[in-house]
Formats: sequence, C-alpha cells, structure tokens
Amino acid sequence: MKFAVAKIAFIVGSVVTFLAAPFALQAESSPEDIIKYRQNMMKANGAHMAAMGAVIQGKVDYKKDLADHARALQAINKNIPALFPKGSDFGGETKALDAIWQKNADFEKLAKQAGADADALAKAVQTGDAKVYGPKFKALADDCKACHKDFRKKDEAQ
Ligand code: HEC
Repeated sequence: MKFAVAKIAFIVGSVVTFLAAPFALQAESSPEDIIKYRQNMMKANGAHMAAMGAVIQGKVDYKKDLADHARALQAINKNIPALFPKGSDFGGETKALDAIWQKNADFEKLAKQAGADADALAKAVQTGDAKVYGPKFKALADDCKACHKDFRKKDEAQ
C-alpha cells in the first residue's frame, strides 16, 4: 500500500481539474471510473484496518483514534455490493472475479457480514476495552480475507 507523494499530487491535481470542469461531464460513469472508485474505497478499508491493527497490537499509542477508524470502516463496509455493479468487470484493471456476478448471493452474504461486523466493531470500541473490541477487529479482518479468497484475483504483491 505504497502511496507515493507524486501520486497524491496527481490525484489532488485531477480533483482540481474535475472541479473546474463543467458539471455536464458528470453524466454517466465509465466502468474504469467505477473500478477506480471501488479500489480507492478498498484501499481506505485496508488503511483503516492497518492503522487500527497497529494501535491494537500496541505498536503505537493512538487509542483515541480507534473510534474514528471504526466509524470509517462502518461507512465503507455499509454497502460493498453497490461498488460492484454489473458490467464493472471489464474495461479497466480490476481484480474483481466473475464469481462476484455468477455467485452473487454468496458475495452479498460476505459483504453483509462485513457490514454487520464493522457495526459491531464500532460499538465495541465505545467500551474502551481491548478485550471487547479486539475479537471484533479480528472478525472483520476475517471477513476481508474470506471475500478476497473467493472473489478477488490473486496477486503476488498482496
Ligand atoms: C464482499 C467482498 C469483499 C469484502 C468484504 C472486502 N473486500 Fe476488499 N476487495 C474485494 C474485491 C472484489 C477487490 C478487487 C476490486 C477490484 O480490483 O476491482 C478488493 C480489493 C481490495 C484491496 C485492493 C485495492 C486496490 O486496488 O489497491 C484492498 C486493500 C482491500 N480490498 C481491503 C479490504 C479490507 C481491509 C476489507 C475488510 C475491512 C475488505 N477489503 C473487505 C472484495 C471485498
């Protein structure tokens, strides 16, 4: 999850360009743009999980941030299937497997589980007790893995 400064500068530049563009350009999103959007949402998922993990393992002392990370995870995992509309499996560099649309009920079940476990994690963090939120964190991490195992193309780098 290397995020080069140049890449950030590029993204900020793109956003500025986009904001300056006429609103008519927003009409229909392309599969490429949807793919990029969901990959960014998933990157955010990974970043918040990694940040939370570092706190929970005691590598850093940012306990007061846990609730914010949990809320972000709750928002991101609220409706994962919406990030995978039919037709967003081509036309871009995606690791989404066809199985998402072929075994859609299984995919939705895993997505729902992640949403529910993110909710449970956010609630558990409120207790301030690592014995309570630790297992919820682990449960959500297992959901990420379960879905990637069946529905994301394998990659040496991840
Ligand atoms: C219901 C299925 C599902 C769940 C749950 C899920 N993911 Fe994903 N994730 C995917 C799929 C499919 C892709 C590939 C998307 C693509 O390339 O278009 C992906 C991609 C990713 C990526 C790579 C993004 C990139 O392109 O750089 C990361 C990081 C990631 N997920 C993290 C997580 C984390 C962390 C969680 C749990 C909090 C999670 N995901 C939960 C299905 C899921």
